[in-house]
Amino acid sequence: MGKIRNIVILTGAGVSAESGIDTFRDAGGLWEQHRVEDVATPEAFERDPDLVLRFYDMRREAIQTRQPNAAHHALARLDAEWPGGLLIVTQNVDDLHERAGAKRVLHMHGTHLNAWCLACDERSPWTGALIQRPPCPQCGEAALRPDVVWFGEIPYHMDEIHVALREADLFVSIGTSGAVYPAAGFVRDARDLGAATLELNLEPSQGTLWFNEARHGPATAVVPAWVDEMLAGRA
Ligand code: NAD
Ligand code: APR
Repeated sequence: MGKIRNIVILTGAGVSAESGIDTFRDAGGLWEQHRVEDVATPEAFERDPDLVLRFYDMRREAIQTRQPNAAHHALARLDAEWPGGLLIVTQNVDDLHERAGAKRVLHMHGTHLNAWCLACDERSPWTGALIQRPPCPQCGEAALRPDVVWFGEIPYHMDEIHVALREADLFVSIGTSGAVYPAAGFVRDARDLGAATLELNLEPSQGTLWFNEARHGPATAVVPAWVDEMLAGRA
């Protein structure tokens, strides 16, 4: 591996698991007898908006009470101290990277902090239960949905992510099963574009064979250890 300057880090539900936020696929992926794939789609929202809004109101409430863990804090330290390019691309809708202090973060699947109005297309802070159909603060219509990306929708920030992958010397995937595209394809994109690739996950992900190196264990152990190595290596 040559000298590393630019790093792209992809995170998934596993980085927040030890903060007490359920992952999607580890616990059976079931919620009220529905697979998350069946709840998190525009079709599901049309068919049964109460079911979908209840699911996201619950997730948002669960997220709000949680705190960043040692993995989030280590990544925030790397973000603050790494002298080269660095981008954290998260699939998570929680804000635990930011609450740990990370600045260079993109939420490709949206954020639980915002609601999106289907009447006026504006985003505003998501403050109360959406199932009660609060009026949009901008236009007054009761047409708010969570500002999260559902299956079949196009993830956010894809152009910026591809630019970063093109410039990356190292791509690191943390706490993601590698089951959901396009994020699951970033490791191959990064490899094709010349980056070294590292997986940090509790167990081998679906894409584990695409990585040059994989280290398995809980994020709160493997991520701080890797960050220490990276920061020591440049000293
Ligand atoms: P999909 O394959 O159904 O749809 C993604 C589409 O986006 C594809 O057609 C793909 O070609 C297109 N696309 C990708 N990058 C693009 C780009 N730069 N420009 C234009 N089009 C682009 O996707 P999916 O795997 O079913 O899921 C869609 C997204 O929704 C995923 O990222 C998934 O994780 C997310 N999702 C979020 C939640 C949640 O609860 N937050 C739940 C389910 C799905
Ligand atoms: N430390 C590290 N990894 C962990 C830990 C932990 N403590 N706990 C679980 N994991 C790993 C699991 O082994 C699994 O591979 O995290 C991964 C979580 O995978 P998923 O539940 O599939 O979550 P994710 O990959 O983020 O899902 C992608 O799917 O439904 C959509 O939009 C949703 O963003 C989400 C996307």
